[in-house]
Amino acid sequence: MTPRETIAIIDFGSQYSQLIARRVRENHVYSELLPTSTSPRQLREAGVKGIILSGGPASVYEEGAPSCNPGIFELGVPVLGICYGMQIACQILGGQVQAGRTREYGRVQLSVRRAEGVLAHTPAKISVWMSHGDVVMEVADCFESIAATSTCPVAAVRHKTRPVFGVQFHPEVTHTPNGEQMIRNFVYDICGCRGEWRVQNVIETSVQAIRDQVGPADRVICGLSGGVDSSVTAALVQRAIGERLVNIFVDNGLCRRREAEMVEMTFRDHFGMELHVVDARDRFLTGLAGVNDPQVKRRIIGHEFIEVFKQEARQIEGAHFLAQGTIYPDVIESGHGPAGPAAVIKLHHNVGGLPAELGFELVEPLRQLFKDEVRLVGEALGLPEALVWRHPFPGPGLAVRIAGEVTPERLELLRSADEILLEELTAAGWYRKVAQGFAVLVPVASVGVMGDGRSYEGQNLVVLRLVESKDFMTADWMRIDYGVLATVSNRIINEVSGINRVAYDISSKPPSTIEWQ
Ligand code: XMP
Repeated sequence: MTPRETIAIIDFGSQYSQLIARRVRENHVYSELLPTSTSPRQLREAGVKGIILSGGPASVYEEGAPSCNPGIFELGVPVLGICYGMQIACQILGGQVQAGRTREYGRVQLSVRRAEGVLAHTPAKISVWMSHGDVVMEVADCFESIAATSTCPVAAVRHKTRPVFGVQFHPEVTHTPNGEQMIRNFVYDICGCRGEWRVQNVIETSVQAIRDQVGPADRVICGLSGGVDSSVTAALVQRAIGERLVNIFVDNGLCRRREAEMVEMTFRDHFGMELHVVDARDRFLTGLAGVNDPQVKRRIIGHEFIEVFKQEARQIEGAHFLAQGTIYPDVIESGHGPAGPAAVIKLHHNVGGLPAELGFELVEPLRQLFKDEVRLVGEALGLPEALVWRHPFPGPGLAVRIAGEVTPERLELLRSADEILLEELTAAGWYRKVAQGFAVLVPVASVGVMGDGRSYEGQNLVVLRLVESKDFMTADWMRIDYGVLATVSNRIINEVSGINRVAYDISSKPPSTIEWQ
């Protein structure tokens, strides 16, 4: 993708770096994270309209602290330093940074001395979000301080002659209510962007990039999982190369109810794509028989998936490419982002991750996109709403939602409970408000009244897990309407024979995880 207007973000490893990119993109300007080693020449050649220096966990005065090339400030391209980014700009240009007397963390009152540049259109007193221990003690003659807090005399700076600005606080987080305005000031007024980046451009550029990569004759295989990312990938690849796309859907028997049918209906019937559905249900269930350990379950499923996929892919002639739905957070979180392995937050456990030994060249059209942008692309390509807004579903499927051994009977029980939960969430208008919602089957014999007696036999507990989350790295349990819980519980107990108790999971992540296994 080579959009005309780009804001580069030099990533010093802040947990908010991705958020800065999102905020810029919300202004219809493409933005990308780049490593600290990026040279002024690379930036000039890329024609970037502005540069943002992100925050970061280090101290600028420490030995080996990440820095950036001082030539960046000579380019004449506007620069905005945020937190660590402001400190590094101030230090490079002759100021002095040291540890502050107190750490400033959380919401803080900012006094705006001069509402100009990045602080234009902001009132004299505003609330901002701070998270820093170091402070700029002295600014160089070329800088002036334009805002302060009670403990931080240099909370925002501007260069006297160049378009270089710095803010000690974080305009990219929602806890800085005027932050959006500041990003807008920078992107439009200071960098002079026009804001032309639209979903339609993403589609056009991706389609062109796929055509350029694949050439006029080659075929592409896409592993469909039924989730949003792989579906949007398939739709984009089809738009680019039409019938030369071949999809493979591995039915591992661990899907939700009617999932396989929905994939067939959407991709084969509606989009007219070539789709190979591999019925591998027996193979997976046989492999999982007698296995209790969650890690072993995951390993078996991962291994079987690769084997089945390999076998099927071998039968497709003339395909040298594999399309995968890797999205931007996957790239960053797996340590392949600009800040490298230091920024690894979680191991990327996407099922689509087939090993390199398969020998395919990868086509990853969503590599630069955030989840919500992927959804917009999906909508624009005409994917059904139910698919575009679907909650994430783990690669190992229902197997990690059954405590203990996975058996066909347990899978059926879980599917029934899960189906009721999703139906009621949708009917009550909660589905889109919940980031992820599902049922977990816990096969413990809890007592139930059956007729006149107490019965323990063949009974199971179902736990409902509903979470709200922005990025799935942290999550909180959903404060959902009790009425919805009551209906779901009643229906499950009345309609699903074999389940006699329903519980609601009220654990947050961390320390719990979203999935039970
Ligand atoms: P946890 O349970 O780690 O889940 O809090 C975070 C998000 O990742 C999903 N998840 C998986 N996705 N393969 C996947 O493709 C997996 O093995 C896997 N395990 C968890 C989970 O559903 C949630 O959205």
